[in-house]
Amino acid sequence: MQNFEQFLLDNLPTSSSIHPTYEDALQNMLIAGGKRFRPALLLGVVKAYNPLLLDSARHAAYAIELLHTYSLIHDDLPAMDDSPLRRGKPTLHVSFDEVTAILVGDALNTYSFEVLSNAPFSDATRVKLIRELASNGGLNGMVLGQAIDCYFENKPLKVEDIKILHTNKTAKLIAASMKMGAIIVGREDVARELYDFGIKLGVLFQIQDDILDVTQSSQEAGKLTNNDEDKNSFVTILGLDESMKQANEIADELMTEIFNFDESLQSELSSLLSKYINRHK
Ligand code: IPE
Ligand code: IPE
Ligand code: MG
Ligand code: MG
Ligand code: MG
Repeated sequence: MQNFEQFLLDNLPTSSSIHPTYEDALQNMLIAGGKRFRPALLLGVVKAYNPLLLDSARHAAYAIELLHTYSLIHDDLPAMDDSPLRRGKPTLHVSFDEVTAILVGDALNTYSFEVLSNAPFSDATRVKLIRELASNGGLNGMVLGQAIDCYFENKPLKVEDIKILHTNKTAKLIAASMKMGAIIVGREDVARELYDFGIKLGVLFQIQDDILDVTQSSQEAGKLTNNDEDKNSFVTILGLDESMKQANEIADELMTEIFNFDESLQSELSSLLSKYINRHK
């Protein structure tokens, strides 16, 4: 991911305006780091099928990271999760102000589609990538998930409904990252399978995040933990032991399902998953 980090630094959103802090605020959370999990998935798929396309694919990986970073900035706002810490740094509404955090989120959201529209692919590929990111990151994807998450605070959901919540707020963007990799390499025959795998991986990712909310300190996580009490998290509804058990089961299923993919993809995914699949343990 070193190349990706360099690409990101070389392509940070810029704006020369009379506003004294706007450009700093735009870049603040992007350069704070993060796991870059979604870019790694997209680039992993591209590397498995056509490494020659990696340079172009970084544009798309960056677009996903931009949209994801916007979602985190808005997620932390006082009206949502009201969190002062993200990626080990004060959140934008703390280090700047709430207006800045809202507007930087808006700017990164739209900039992600600008980046995709300028990416070095054919027009047809660009349109497919834009559609995939919009439909999974937007009104029937991440944004819907966040709406459900906030609406049902202090209103316990059934486990099936929490899976719907987790699928929308987290898994669809993770699934889209894998599918966008398949679109870039022209392997739409595996796009559906990759998407379904990504949904399961994404649900696991959010269950792990729910577990880490109660098992990690804010310092370890780089974000406010013990902050899900009013939420429909796996842990608040099922308890820690049962959440661990279900996370282990899904992790095992995913490790088996990897073998359905081509060998080159198996090796890319297993090295990525070995890093991320046991985060809760
Ligand atoms: C946090 O995402 C929000 C969830 C969907 C759980 P990440 O855990 O990928 O956050 P960063 O990108 O590493 O900061
Ligand atoms: C957020 O879920 C998912 C997003 C779409 C940003 P959380 O609210 O659990 O994420 P964290 O724990 O703040 O990173
Ligand atoms: Mg949240
Ligand atoms: Mg949150
Ligand atoms: Mg969380």
